[in-house]
Amino acid sequence: MLKRLALLCLFLSAADSLPLMMTFDKSEIDLQGTDYASGNFAFNKSPEIGPFFEMLRHVYPITTVIETGTFEGSTTAFFARTFEEVHTIDISPQYSKTAQQRLTSLSNIKFHLGSSEKVLAQILPTISEKFVLFYLDAHWNEYWPLLDELEAISKTHHNHCIVVIDDVKVPGRSDIPFDAYKGHECSFEYAKEKIEKLFDGYSMHYLIPSNPLMRAKLVIIPKTGR
Ligand SMILES: C[S@@+](CC[C@H](N)C(=O)[O-])C[C@H]1O[C@@H](n2cnc3c(N)ncnc32)[C@H](O)[C@@H]1O
Repeated sequence: MLKRLALLCLFLSAADSLPLMMTFDKSEIDLQGTDYASGNFAFNKSPEIGPFFEMLRHVYPITTVIETGTFEGSTTAFFARTFEEVHTIDISPQYSKTAQQRLTSLSNIKFHLGSSEKVLAQILPTISEKFVLFYLDAHWNEYWPLLDELEAISKTHHNHCIVVIDDVKVPGRSDIPFDAYKGHECSFEYAKEKIEKLFDGYSMHYLIPSNPLMRAKLVIIPKTGR
């Protein structure tokens, strides 16, 4: 616990000048058991990343998290325990239902069923005033919605959100696996045009878990507000 707090303080003092690459030490959290609602299994069982999001909550006026790709609900649970409200979207009725059953103890989660870019287009106009943390992690199928998700977000949350993209390629780190679909690598370059439509100015940072096989996240933070 002390280690987590020390890490958080370090981040807080450095919030204005976060480095490009952030590698996290292994956490002491016990990853045994099946208590999905604990949030301990978040980020592909890399809970050491959690304090970074706690730092974001302190520094930015984030009330709402939108996760695309619910899967087992592990990361959803962490966000529900850390932020006021969470929307999570999955195209698979089975994953969505199982996650809902696992997370009944967390009342601030709204589960949405459907393709993420379509669900985003429906819900974002209703929360355009809220500063949102988007955790974009919907993939595995024939259609990869990432670019369409960013397009939908730029219509309502221009300069008014933080975006996290999971499973990205990290420059210079061939030891970290990443996703690729139809010859397109999940990378900053792939999303760059959409990111620059969404933000007038931004800083970007790679979050690298203690076990790099658990994959990295790209965080995009606006430099200017609305
Ligand atoms: C990598 S998993 C998400 C993991 C989860 N965010 C976590 O951290 O544990 C990817 C999920 O995206 C979902 N998915 C795939 N295509 C989708 C789409 N177009 N819209 C919404 N969800 C989608 C899959 O059903 C799967 O559950």
